[in-house]
Amino acid sequence: MKTQVAIVGGGPSGLLLAQLLHTRGIESVVLERKTKDYVLGRIRAGVLERGLVALLEEAGCADRLHAEGIVHDGTLMSYGDEMFRIDFTEHTGTPVVVYGQTEVTRDLYEAREAAGAQTLFNVEDVVIHGADTDAPHVTFAIDGETHRIDCDFVAGCDGFHGVSRQTIPLEVRREYEKVYPFGWLGILSRTPPVNHELIYANSPRGFALCSMRNENLSRYYIQCSLSDKPEDWTDDAFWQELKRRIPADQANALVTGPSIEKSIAPLRSFVTEPMRWGRLFLCGDAAHIVPPTGAKGLNTAASDVHYLYNGLRDWYENGSAEGVDLYSELALARVWKAERFSWWFSSLMHRYPDQSEFDLKMQVAEIEFLRTNAAAQKAMAENYVGLPY
Ligand code: FAD
Ligand code: DHB
Repeated sequence: MKTQVAIVGGGPSGLLLAQLLHTRGIESVVLERKTKDYVLGRIRAGVLERGLVALLEEAGCADRLHAEGIVHDGTLMSYGDEMFRIDFTEHTGTPVVVYGQTEVTRDLYEAREAAGAQTLFNVEDVVIHGADTDAPHVTFAIDGETHRIDCDFVAGCDGFHGVSRQTIPLEVRREYEKVYPFGWLGILSRTPPVNHELIYANSPRGFALCSMRNENLSRYYIQCSLSDKPEDWTDDAFWQELKRRIPADQANALVTGPSIEKSIAPLRSFVTEPMRWGRLFLCGDAAHIVPPTGAKGLNTAASDVHYLYNGLRDWYENGSAEGVDLYSELALARVWKAERFSWWFSSLMHRYPDQSEFDLKMQVAEIEFLRTNAAAQKAMAENYVGLPY
């Protein structure tokens, strides 16, 4: 097989890149290790920045998002029974949109199928060859049979556990990591959201987040121990704990019901540099991970896609290498700012095992400052709705 851009990974980064390239007549093949149903079964992010919405529009995949996504002009934050609001639209002129990653992925797969573009599923043993030459190729197996794709470029969109990052030699690669001493237990339930906006809650019992997918589908998270397993938590225990962590009036209004999904995600900050090695480009979780507080994971993957898409357009449409040469630098500059915001917001909202009384006072003082200071709220809002590309 031959293509212009071989894309390893059929998650949101790989699919979005493929669709954007398709609009410009640039050919790609997407290689995905799992089945489509498996990819669509993963419940992940829920809040989209304007930049991602604009990319989905450009890819021609935003109709359902505009029809079904819920525009949020602000968010609520609580500590104990105190609750206040940060108004994104007032501070930045920009709202965010609540629309699940699952739906984004489904829309991208549908567009890809409608365009007759190639996605290969159940692909095993992907190996990227010659990334440091002008003629890379990718080999892989399907049903035990080996295949080869020759290409101009390889986009490594295969997530944190993929092969793309490992292809960059250790002497070239530098990795930065912080592992947090807790996880998030999340549930999805067919119940109306407790509030029409998200609530980020700091409580003495740990962090909680009230989110949603639509008016009858809620997504809730509570900070949990890393040793917890989802099966340790009955639905009842989850609801009881959530109620203890949000303001009493919200707890009283909370409608509970059976969970339809329950999972635990550990929290990690991670960045690899550079994000390019020869003709291999890393995009999204393949290059970096943020803790989920602040919803930056999917959105930062999208900003990588933006820089790579523009670099590849520069190459194919203008015969210029400038965009691809600048890819790593431009993407990383924004990645580190998203890392900073996610780390700051996580530090502000969670209980840490080794937190001293002084540390707790600092958290409260910082939340109080955010509650009462317009400049602090503006800085938070600018980061939350997404820094410019
Ligand atoms: P992925 O979504 O990981 O996609 C990578 C794809 O590559 C996968 O489909 C995988 O099967 C495939 N793949 C892997 N290895 C190979 C291989 N060798 N060959 C071929 N294909 C391969 N972000 C938020 O903002 N809010 C959240 O609440 C949130 N929750 C999350 C919960 C979990 C459990 C996880 C893991 C992430 C969460 N994130 C969240 C982060 C967000 O979902 C990711 O940032 C986003 O999925 C990144 O997209 P991606 O396409 O780069 O990577
Ligand atoms: C969701 C997840 C987040 O990490 C976040 O900050 C906001 C919303 C969600 O899954 O809805």
